[in-house]
Amino acid sequence: MSNICVIGTGYVGLVTGTCFADLGNQVICQDISAERIDKLKNGQMPIFEPGLEQIVNINYQSGRLMFTTDLTEALKDAEFAFIAVGTPSGVDGEADLQYVRMAAESIADHVNHPIIVVNKSTVPVGTGDWVTDIIRKRRNGNNLDFQVVSNPEFLREGSAINDFMFPDRIVLGCTNIDAANQVGNLYLSLRCPIQITDLRTAEMIKYASNAFLATRISFINEIANICEEVGADVREVATGMGYDKRIGRAFLDAGLGWGGSCFPKDVKALAHMAVLHGTHPQLLQAVMEINRNQRRKVIVKLRRAMGSLNDKVIGVLGLSFKPNTDDIREAPALEVIHLLLNEGACVRAYDPQAMENASHELERVVLCQTPYEVAEGADALILATEWNEFKQLDFNRIHQLMHTRIIIDGRNLWDPERMKEMGFTYFGVGRAMTNNH
Ligand SMILES: NC(=O)c1ccc[n+]([C@@H]2O[C@H](COP(=O)([O-])OP(=O)(O)OC[C@H]3O[C@@H](n4cnc5c(N)ncnc54)[C@H](O)[C@@H]3O)[C@@H](O)[C@H]2O)c1
Repeated sequence: MSNICVIGTGYVGLVTGTCFADLGNQVICQDISAERIDKLKNGQMPIFEPGLEQIVNINYQSGRLMFTTDLTEALKDAEFAFIAVGTPSGVDGEADLQYVRMAAESIADHVNHPIIVVNKSTVPVGTGDWVTDIIRKRRNGNNLDFQVVSNPEFLREGSAINDFMFPDRIVLGCTNIDAANQVGNLYLSLRCPIQITDLRTAEMIKYASNAFLATRISFINEIANICEEVGADVREVATGMGYDKRIGRAFLDAGLGWGGSCFPKDVKALAHMAVLHGTHPQLLQAVMEINRNQRRKVIVKLRRAMGSLNDKVIGVLGLSFKPNTDDIREAPALEVIHLLLNEGACVRAYDPQAMENASHELERVVLCQTPYEVAEGADALILATEWNEFKQLDFNRIHQLMHTRIIIDGRNLWDPERMKEMGFTYFGVGRAMTNNH
């Protein structure tokens, strides 16, 4: 059993803290947001993550998991301080490290016993050394026995608890092997490979992993665009490629492109870092450009099908950046909606979990209670997020409700043949058996 403090109680911090508590550790999750901490103390989740509420409540009631805004309390007995604060994009695409800096300074201000600072936030290469410097300078000669370990996080929203409990690997970057081993011991019961590297390599592993996954998606989207022109079906292409063990099938689903709180900012930050160090990240630039265009292609398809979008009623199904999360950061749906609004369209939308988050961002959009309400009077329907509940919609009902029956299936969720038989004008992404042309 170890005493752990987690600074930042968002998607990563809350899941990390809760799972460490579930493994038998004593954990305090700290956050500067009093609203977030109050909610958690009252058993309400500040985010939607499948299975999280139950495991938080079990561990909170057992006393192994606590929540506070007070850093002195959070760090009092901590052997490990995990930094899990946000690292959003700065103005130039760089990672904004202001929250990491605040967390590092807080540790310097509140700790007077030996501690291992573990950085879980995704940070540019060199940040581990920078955090060490910040803490040293802040102590101003008042020595603190501390080590900094980089422990990048690979969990995915929507399956975060499973990903934490059954990780493919744990990466630990350090200058002190003993500190890395101590952090490694926290994960021993998970029985997964633990890779120990230097600090900078660990930080780079995270960026390289996300950039590679984003590249796969942009690659298949580029292939999809070619498929549409030459009359091939990208889903079959991906399946055929995926049988090859050297390639695999994961992250080869064509669609509206990648979004979320990680890929967009991490690819941008990596490209920014590359340029700052004098290299030319051509592939990363192309990966981002393909992704941007993937959203625009929806508008092109709609214009082709209906001419001007001015005053047209367009329904959007799904707002979160992927299914099983309420996270709408950099969600493809939101970008498509902004493009539609720019064209003068009237947008109606629905999402199973992201409605509250979306309501703060989408003032000019009619937010509906069901997919059928979205379809009412719509000239076109766009599927932006492939939630399970959209798989088996009552398309007879939707057919009756829509004004003009155009469907843009941005995730290739539905059967093109069936859609056509039912009288819809159906557009998938990169599918030959459609009226894409
Ligand atoms: N979300 C993911 O799926 C995911 C996956 C892997 C890695 N990451 C990385 O993990 C980090 C956190 O991501 P997230 O999605 O959990 O962010 P988030 O925005 O959901 O949560 C960040 C939390 O940190 C809090 N915070 C900010 N400054 C603080 C401070 N000084 N002291 C205490 N709390 C503070 C905020 O109030 C917020 O609750 C990012 O660097 C991200 O790139 C995220």
